Amino acid sequence: MELQDAIAQRRSIKAFRRDMNIDDHALYEAIQRATDAPNHGLRAPWRVVHIAKNRLGDMSKQLTEIAFPNIKKKQEDHYKVATNLGGMLALIVKEDPRQKENLENHMAFGAFAQNLMLLLYEAGIGTCWKTPAYIFNPEIRSIFGVQDDEQLVGLLYLTDLKDLEKMPHRERQQSQTIETF
Ligand SMILES: Cc1cc2nc3c(=O)[nH]c(=O)nc-3n(C[C@H](O)[C@H](O)[C@H](O)COP(=O)(O)O)c2cc1C
Repeated sequence: MELQDAIAQRRSIKAFRRDMNIDDHALYEAIQRATDAPNHGLRAPWRVVHIAKNRLGDMSKQLTEIAFPNIKKKQEDHYKVATNLGGMLALIVKEDPRQKENLENHMAFGAFAQNLMLLLYEAGIGTCWKTPAYIFNPEIRSIFGVQDDEQLVGLLYLTDLKDLEKMPHRERQQSQTIETF
């Protein structure tokens, strides 16, 4: 697959209606390859926790008891979506008390994440990066083993690509990206 095609054609898959399965071997290979992202001082400020298909239900129950206490409908909806996925990755970035190093860590994580989503797309695995407000909840963080010097920056929903064509390919607003000095 051409790099430009992957960049232009990858889309967030937001259809979770079917029972999906993904190739975990391909997933692990893509994660390893994504670490070729630029990262200053080779600090590799990234970590992912894989919630495999057979663990999604347990994870959803734990998560929704904290995120949506006593809201049965929301708990059930989350369970239905989560258990339909092929898996999930908790995305974790290393925090640094120094402003410059922290910025570098977060930027490097973005490069890693884009590499990862493109490599997964090439491998036939769809993604949607989710940043619900509960990722900042300390009890949710602890479900995924996030340490005090780390931030949970999202959950990557993993799917197949069967619904790719149904996803909107919205035109990007490229006209304002480049200005001259
Ligand atoms: C850092 C980040 C956070 C995102 N958070 C969410 C989210 O919480 N919920 C969601 O539905 N999509 C989320 N997305 C997906 C974006 O909405 C999506 O990338 C955007 O609509 C562009 O569509 P595309 O990925 O299909 O090109 C997120 C994407 C990024 C990069």
